[in-house]
Amino acid sequence: MTSEVRFVADDETETDRLGRALAAAVEPGLVVALVGNLGAGKTRLVRGIAAALDVDPRTVSSPTFVLIHEYDGRIPLYHFDAYRLRNEAEFLELGADELMSGDGVCLIEWADRVASSLPADCLRIEIVACGETAREFHITASGIAASRCLERLIAKLGRGMDE
Ligand SMILES: Nc1ncnc2c1ncn2[C@@H]1O[C@H](COP(=O)(O)OP(=O)(O)O)[C@@H](O)[C@H]1O
Ligand SMILES: [Mg+2]
Repeated sequence: MTSEVRFVADDETETDRLGRALAAAVEPGLVVALVGNLGAGKTRLVRGIAAALDVDPRTVSSPTFVLIHEYDGRIPLYHFDAYRLRNEAEFLELGADELMSGDGVCLIEWADRVASSLPADCLRIEIVACGETAREFHITASGIAASRCLERLIAKLGRGMDE
């Protein structure tokens, strides 16, 4: 079973293509850990996923100050930003555990800051900016649900992914 792939986006339309494919590949209950520097494109990718699930993309922004946004799409989306959390306890105080074991999809920016609070079954997407509009996405699945999602993602994207 494939457990890691790389997707290269030359521009934002390609990031949106990845977002659409992810939206079609995720299942309720999945946790997606987004990792990458400021400006890498974590929020931009979430916007692409959300738009494909019929969420108005204008409502999607980094939940840096409120820490969590909820979007009412075809699958409920919980969008976290761990950047300003003081510690992992604060993450759990937000109700993260319940949301991560619920029926929505959790999308967590700066997930490496709450690494030990994430479930073992998790899809990790690390984004690396390699030019003004070029981005590399390193996508890793750990666990059964995340691996299923990754298999569906590969099937959707076909070309453009290096396994
Ligand atoms: N291919 C691309 N994918 C994602 N974002 C891109 C891309 N090319 C340029 N950008 C720009 O990079 C920035 C990413 O910002 P954002 O998504 O807020 O980053 P983060 O949430 O990782 O801090 C946006 O200004 C976006 O327009
Ligand atoms: Mg962001």
